[in-house]
Amino acid sequence: MSQKWDTCSYELKEAKPSRNFLLSGFKAMQKKRSSIETIPTDLINDADFLIIASPIWAGNGNPIINSFVDQADLDKKPVYLCTVQADPQCKTAPKVFGYLSKVIGSKGGMVKGSKAFHGASPGKTASRSDLEKQLAQWNIIQS
Ligand SMILES: Cc1cc2nc3c(=O)[nH]c(=O)nc-3n(C[C@H](O)[C@H](O)[C@H](O)COP(=O)(O)O)c2cc1C
Repeated sequence: MSQKWDTCSYELKEAKPSRNFLLSGFKAMQKKRSSIETIPTDLINDADFLIIASPIWAGNGNPIINSFVDQADLDKKPVYLCTVQADPQCKTAPKVFGYLSKVIGSKGGMVKGSKAFHGASPGKTASRSDLEKQLAQWNIIQS
């Protein structure tokens, strides 16, 4: 059975973005939070499920995602997690999924699946076609 959804994407932004690679990595490693712009609550409340995507920084999710999972009302919300990172083997993704699942679970959210994507080196952007190939391998319903 195939299923189509009406989807809506939203990019979370830091209130004060930093361009310092080392500082950004250090904050991520310490599982710090960033101050983020207000989350539009309707987007979350009206969604049947959320797909939360984070780049991996210094082996961890980034501080923006940490703030999002802290602040969003995720009670009874099905959630799918994605990471994107430079390492083609995505070795640190399981650890990040574990951490985010714990936080989301503590807020009543339900992590239903996850997918690790190989992105690009820091400062570069992964090609759309490469990401689409990886996405095609993700059967979200069965993940
Ligand atoms: C501060 C920083 C730390 C990073 N640390 C890692 C890392 O530990 N492992 C890894 O595989 N990639 C690491 N990367 C690479 C990013 O995960 C990769 O560039 C990803 O594709 C970024 O996605 P984006 O372009 O959506 O931000 C790091 C990038 C930055 C900026």
